[in-house]
Amino acid sequence: MAMLRFDSPAASEITHPVVYAARRQWLKQVAGGAAGSVLAAWAGREALATEKPGKRPALVGTSSSVPGAITMDKATRYEDATSYNNFYEFGTRKSDPARYADTLVTDPWAIEIEGLVKRPFKLGLDDLLKLSPMQERIYRLRCVEGWSMVIPWVGYSLSALIGRAEPLGSAKFVELVSLADAQQMPGVRSSVLDWPYTEVLRLDEAMHPLALLAFGMYGEVLPKQNGAPVRLVVPWKYGFKSAKSIVKLRFVEPQPRSTWGRAAPTEYGFYANVNPNVDHPRWSQATERRIGEDGLFTRRRKTLMFNGYEPQVGQLYAGMDLQRHF
Ligand code: MTE
Repeated sequence: MAMLRFDSPAASEITHPVVYAARRQWLKQVAGGAAGSVLAAWAGREALATEKPGKRPALVGTSSSVPGAITMDKATRYEDATSYNNFYEFGTRKSDPARYADTLVTDPWAIEIEGLVKRPFKLGLDDLLKLSPMQERIYRLRCVEGWSMVIPWVGYSLSALIGRAEPLGSAKFVELVSLADAQQMPGVRSSVLDWPYTEVLRLDEAMHPLALLAFGMYGEVLPKQNGAPVRLVVPWKYGFKSAKSIVKLRFVEPQPRSTWGRAAPTEYGFYANVNPNVDHPRWSQATERRIGEDGLFTRRRKTLMFNGYEPQVGQLYAGMDLQRHF
């Protein structure tokens, strides 16, 4: 007769140490009552209501209490945030995504979880929307090209989905894969990038509460050109790390290259943290132009280390040579 065994779980079944540590940190922050001060700051903001065109279904969240989740910078106009985009699957010009993304089919949609996880699975959009409470986060997004925006996103921490995925102890990186369907995305027919578009984060970066899985912006579901129906927003990194229209999360051990890393490894480092002290090989990263502040005499803003999120994320890179790991 077969014996029932109740010995300790295999190492592969133990919660990843990074996931475990982050869960504890998260609980501490919530218990510490960071919410009060953020809500007080929120009350003082100018209303964003006028920025909403009201064409898309509403998607609202409660104001996030994650430290650093709500910048006091003035939000970019909705019209600017939705008409000046990078989404190479729809073309390489800033105006292409708004022009051509209407062919993207965002429903049905699902994200597949695969690689070094307890059990691979697929989660449909309805389940993704219900996975964790929706929060509003107002983040700066700084593009490597030298422009920036401030956008009120709606979503929840990527850590919620990673927690559900149950990565194995051996998983060190998470690869985020965007849809690449030439039928819906005219840019995919060109060889300008190596499709599908992928981005990669170290697992502890992906677990940081500020790494956001976004489903909406300005209180509505995401417009297609902004990465509908679900995208990443990593506010302390250059915008290209924030993969749009995600269909897969793959947990891996050796560090994979991302799309931009494959396209131009000397220009797009793996870390891609916003760092005014490390120039892009072809231009300075010391300053930025805030979209919508385009007056004749408007000065460029100084770019801040980690895009201003150093107090929250600096610790992730303690002891690293950020000139080499750019
Ligand atoms: N994701 C996909 N799938 N394809 C892309 O071309 N461009 C990246 C990033 N995510 C890109 C992508 C770049 S370069 C930037 S700056 C941001 O998306 C732009 O996001 P936004 O449209 O919200 O401004």
